[in-house]
Amino acid sequence: MNENRATSLQLDNNGKLRHLITLAGLPRPILESILDRAEQLMHAETATQFHPDQPVALLFYEPSTRTRGSFSLAAWRLGYPVINLEPGQSSIAKSETLEDTVSTLEAMGVRYLVLRHAQDGVFNALLDPPDRTIHCISAGEAHQSHPTQGLLDLLTIRQHFPDLAGLSVAIVGDLAHSRVARSTFTAMRTFGITDIRLSAPPEFEPDPVDFQGATNQTLTQALEGVQLIIALRVQSERLTKSSTIEPGYYFSTYGLTSERLRNCHPDVRIMHPGPIHPGMELASDLINSPRSLIRQQVHNGVLIRMAVYEELRS
Ligand code: CP
Repeated sequence: MNENRATSLQLDNNGKLRHLITLAGLPRPILESILDRAEQLMHAETATQFHPDQPVALLFYEPSTRTRGSFSLAAWRLGYPVINLEPGQSSIAKSETLEDTVSTLEAMGVRYLVLRHAQDGVFNALLDPPDRTIHCISAGEAHQSHPTQGLLDLLTIRQHFPDLAGLSVAIVGDLAHSRVARSTFTAMRTFGITDIRLSAPPEFEPDPVDFQGATNQTLTQALEGVQLIIALRVQSERLTKSSTIEPGYYFSTYGLTSERLRNCHPDVRIMHPGPIHPGMELASDLINSPRSLIRQQVHNGVLIRMAVYEELRS
């Protein structure tokens, strides 16, 4: 979806967020409002009230632990009822279209649809009706967009690096297929981070259009003096036979190890969206080391998804 169209469909006439499909084109104050609310929620007592008028439906066409679990927990913590739909066990398996499924949920009074799908553009047909009362939230769209991951990554970054404008970041790995990389890159740019280095093996080099202003560097160049590394998951499910990389080869050329970090900033931190391929993207001793922010990313995921529900609530 083009950026202007996405922005106009995501915001109502008063500039309030009505859907969250992509971070591209969203004004910084909206993102800031979500991040600030997530910070508040970290210390807040929640779920003191049940809100039966705010039901959430989760519909995931691709597997998930973090995103699905945290959207679910976030709803429970706010007192919102949750229904879990399995595509194979719903009327979608009886040929109902996704458009009809959304209208059906809307007629039941469902207020939020959290959808993960492998098809690029799946939201195009779902946002348009002006009388749409359900808020659509992307939980991951093909290789294009994973907006709540971008937000939780930015929250994690902001907690550790208050000087965002002076921060240097390397995004390393499967940039061609990673929706996390696109959304986190967009979020970082929106918040004024300019030193963003990309490093991907030739098989996984991204389309430069998706990462404007950043160029592909060797791993050694990208890691030189860098303060934060975002290691990406190899998107095995999106690879063709010809682009598949053998795990041992990937680790030996692009896997992060203590040795490879020697020329980074002495306090370099590491993030990874998960799930991690064992022995591929990160050496096991780094995953739980003090440098790793991975558990904090997961923790922040619940808070961000609570804040997103609240931001959308009409
Ligand atoms: N980071 C992420 O989207 O993880 P899941 O696939 O477990 O949701």
